[in-house]
Amino acid sequence: MYLLITVPTGFEKEAISEVEKISNKKIIVKTTYFKGVLLGKTKLKKEEVKKVFSKDTTYIRKVIPVDRIEKTDIDKFVRFFSKFNLKGKKFAVRCKRRGVHNFASKEVEVRVGEVIKKLGGIVDLENPEIILSIEILQDFSCLSILTTKDIIVKKAKVEKKWKKEERPICRSELKIREIIKRYGFVFSKDKVVLDIGSAPGGWVREISKRVKKVFAVDPAELEVSVKSLENVVHIKKKAQEIELKDKVDVITNDANILDKESAEVSINLSNKFLKKGGFLIHTIKMKRFSKSIVEEIEKMFKYSGIEKISLLKLRYNTRNEITFIGRKHD
Ligand SMILES: C[S@@+](CC[C@H](N)C(=O)[O-])C[C@H]1O[C@@H](n2cnc3c(N)ncnc32)[C@H](O)[C@@H]1O
Repeated sequence: MYLLITVPTGFEKEAISEVEKISNKKIIVKTTYFKGVLLGKTKLKKEEVKKVFSKDTTYIRKVIPVDRIEKTDIDKFVRFFSKFNLKGKKFAVRCKRRGVHNFASKEVEVRVGEVIKKLGGIVDLENPEIILSIEILQDFSCLSILTTKDIIVKKAKVEKKWKKEERPICRSELKIREIIKRYGFVFSKDKVVLDIGSAPGGWVREISKRVKKVFAVDPAELEVSVKSLENVVHIKKKAQEIELKDKVDVITNDANILDKESAEVSINLSNKFLKKGGFLIHTIKMKRFSKSIVEEIEKMFKYSGIEKISLLKLRYNTRNEITFIGRKHD
């Protein structure tokens, strides 16, 4: 059986660990495309699932047992629910739609409801015996036939992880926040920064608050709120293709380019555009973490005149990343 589990946004990781812990790994949980929505899979029966979630939890808001996962298609929903004998039963259709569609939740409820009514079901939105639950997650949907008792509703002990203005645009933004906490002096009001691999714009947003100007290089789009910042110039190109009129004080590189190739990009840019004494902040990204690759890259930087200040395993580095901070020789 599948379970649709909702949790406060930003706490998905913690919630996954919590469910696996309270269920002794009998419920395996994954994130979905949607914040705060997880999908669990288990061989436990409904009653056993209830028992698991009756334990003290911090992150769980709602758990809905799922009978079937279907492609998002109203005809398919109708076909699925029509198979059940709901003659004489008081029912309500409840649809929650997440994603972009050319129909509203209400339309889904009406379409399914009308068919079940024709088959002898009795619509009762106030006190239904049976709930036909449709949770749409963009292209797939979780369908269930439930009684109100089947849905587990809890109060999470935490609320949203981020205040609106603090919510990161992307996970990467948390890396630059960490770097700024430790090496904030790199970014001061008189500095010009060249940021490579900028989209969607988490690093640029944080850096631009602290410096004079940021050149943001990425063939992909920046988020509108970042692109429209006064001191941000989006160069919609690959890092290997850019030209700049003047030298910059700092180069930051968080592009999705692998290990040595990315180091070469940083080195070329540093040779061409970084002032002497300027800083390089470079995420070393590897297919699989390798100490020897990291050492080779450190050597590449060293031989190119970039002195290591530190190699940081940030809390928000992925397991195959590490962050290099260096300075170009005077
Ligand atoms: C992990 S994202 C960077 C996230 C970014 N630091 C932020 O905080 O929003 C990696 C980015 O590298 C970009 N990228 C990949 N190859 C690139 C290249 N050759 N030049 C510039 N950007 C590149 C991708 O388009 C992608 O947007």
